[in-house]
Amino acid sequence: MKLCEGRVAIVTGAGRGLGRSHALMLAEQGAAVVVNDLGSSADGIGADATPAEEVAALIRERGGKAVVDTNNVAEWAGAKAMVDKAVSEFGGLDILVNNAGILRDRMLINMTEDEWDSVVKVHMKGTFAPMHHAGNHWRAQHKAGKKVDARIINTTSHSGLFCNIGQANYAAAKAGIASLSIVAARELSRYGVTVNAIAPRAETRMTQGLRELTPEQVERRDPAWISALVTWLASPQGAKVSGKVFEAWGWGYAVAESWQHGPITPASKDPAELGPKIEEIIRFSRKNAGIDRDTWLDI
Ligand SMILES: NC(=O)c1ccc[n+]([C@@H]2O[C@H](COP(=O)([O-])OP(=O)(O)OC[C@H]3O[C@@H](n4cnc5c(N)ncnc54)[C@H](O)[C@@H]3O)[C@@H](O)[C@H]2O)c1
Repeated sequence: MKLCEGRVAIVTGAGRGLGRSHALMLAEQGAAVVVNDLGSSADGIGADATPAEEVAALIRERGGKAVVDTNNVAEWAGAKAMVDKAVSEFGGLDILVNNAGILRDRMLINMTEDEWDSVVKVHMKGTFAPMHHAGNHWRAQHKAGKKVDARIINTTSHSGLFCNIGQANYAAAKAGIASLSIVAARELSRYGVTVNAIAPRAETRMTQGLRELTPEQVERRDPAWISALVTWLASPQGAKVSGKVFEAWGWGYAVAESWQHGPITPASKDPAELGPKIEEIIRFSRKNAGIDRDTWLDI
């Protein structure tokens, strides 16, 4: 029995890299797939239907079901049209994998307004808009008394969770996606929808050439390791797992826990008293988090 037999999935940015791999594995596991991809360059320029068409053709060649969608997921109407396509072509929607993304790295003092806006838009609005439209579809199904067992899997990044230098736009958007996923998990559980996020590491055009890799490292950076987790989360077996952020690659999977409250120091209305108090809570919070370094001002 295939893990996602009879389910309908949308994968955004599925023409290349991780999204392509997710789409192929979901199809192999029995899902009908809307292969969304705008076909832009890695920094978000241009549009080309070829990558999405090739992935959809490959799925069909292998005996699966797929349709192409070339909407820009960061456009409100485009995201709605993509959700509508799943329903009109395949009669419903069970799985939304928000994966589309671009990069425009720059130190923040050199970053242009357009570099900030475009990256934040593709990642954040490109995650929010499909979730909004899919969420409305599932709420309507739920209200009509139909059983909903739906999934959203968003894509965050180590850059966002652990704050990479030179990626202010990307890291801010990806950290936002991690929190947005947890908010969505809390809001959509009432309609039968789980929401999780993955922080992947894989060899794609986004990461190619960053450093020399051994053959084993190349194998561990195969997107398929990540697609297996996405496919499991998307399946009925993933029903109980929601509001989690998974780190994922060929070396293993882990759950990244979010912000924690630190130890408290009493407040004061006299700013002159704050120096030792602030030092104390920074030291205590680092200890609390298991960080045992002398330099309490390290960042
Ligand atoms: N590769 C990694 O190691 C890594 C690490 C962390 C996070 N990620 C994230 O994983 C996701 C996939 O990245 P990838 O490495 O496969 O990159 P990729 O460049 O190979 O693929 C991204 C795809 O998204 C498409 N796309 C871009 N903007 C779009 C839009 N507005 N609407 C529809 N499609 C659009 C592109 O055309 C492209 O085919 C991204 O969100 C990325 O930030 C990747």
